[in-house]
Amino acid sequence: MIETGKIWMNGKLVPFKDAKVHVLTHALHYSTSIFEGIRCYDTPNGSAVFRLSEHVDRLFKSAKLYSMKMQYTKKEISDAILQTVKASGLKEAYIRPLAYYGYGTMGLTPTTNKVDMSIACWEWKMGESKAGKFSGAKCKVSSWMKIDSRSQPMQAKAASNYANAALARMEALENGFDEAIMLNSQGKVAEGSAENIFIIKDDVIQTPPLSAGGLEGITRDSIMQIIEENNGFVIERDLERDDLYTADEIFMTGTAAEVKSVTQIDKVKIGTGKMGSVTKALQKSYRDAVMGEDERFLPWLTFI
Ligand SMILES: Cc1ncc(COP(=O)(O)O)c(C=O)c1O
Repeated sequence: MIETGKIWMNGKLVPFKDAKVHVLTHALHYSTSIFEGIRCYDTPNGSAVFRLSEHVDRLFKSAKLYSMKMQYTKKEISDAILQTVKASGLKEAYIRPLAYYGYGTMGLTPTTNKVDMSIACWEWKMGESKAGKFSGAKCKVSSWMKIDSRSQPMQAKAASNYANAALARMEALENGFDEAIMLNSQGKVAEGSAENIFIIKDDVIQTPPLSAGGLEGITRDSIMQIIEENNGFVIERDLERDDLYTADEIFMTGTAAEVKSVTQIDKVKIGTGKMGSVTKALQKSYRDAVMGEDERFLPWLTFI
């Protein structure tokens, strides 16, 4: 971690190294936190945060699902995000807002503790994905089942969901793969450990419905809107493991991953084993959108 700029904590910008919490912070023990992952891109017209309002809306939805009483309004959080990026001096960044049940009372019940909030950002350049390879990822169908909404609200981007995802990611990496694909309790494809998934078969673009247990990804939505704006369509349907193996192309989407091609699943080569033409075209369209080079999607950008 390269410590750049300051971290916003409960309304104040503090030096990066001083952004600390007490070891008895509720969320550290019971996973009672929710967060967002947002990107700021260095566009030709200046640095711009991609789909800020949608990310802040999802943060508040997550908070509601965990009965968190947020101390700030959506507008205050949006302004604080912009202020944090500005203070960092970074042109391109990954932004991590986090709300968590803090220090106060110990014990399982979170709601007796105050909800603390922080916003950090660090340098992250376009196309630089730590979530496996940007292109030509090899994925493993995880032996871990995707948790589902009978156990936890899956529409919340909550830390507690990510123990399951981290187990899947670790298993994939330990077995020489770049990323995991998780199946739900019905054996249907849910998503990657931190990305939504799309397949292309006979020129039809398909993705699992949100009811399969994936996060309502903002990149997923962006890609679907880009496809529709270009007179295409996406079919949302439950996908079997077989659909993965027999697809012509597969790609994953996420704020970190952007649009990432998948060329192998388990020991099976996908399509030609190289990034397909539809994936390539969508990578470009997505890049144009985040860089402000497609006028139709300019409303998605908030300039710093
Ligand atoms: C589990 C999971 N699914 C999907 C996504 C993609 O969501 P988004 O496109 O909003 O980043 C993420 C990334 O945040 C994720 O963690």
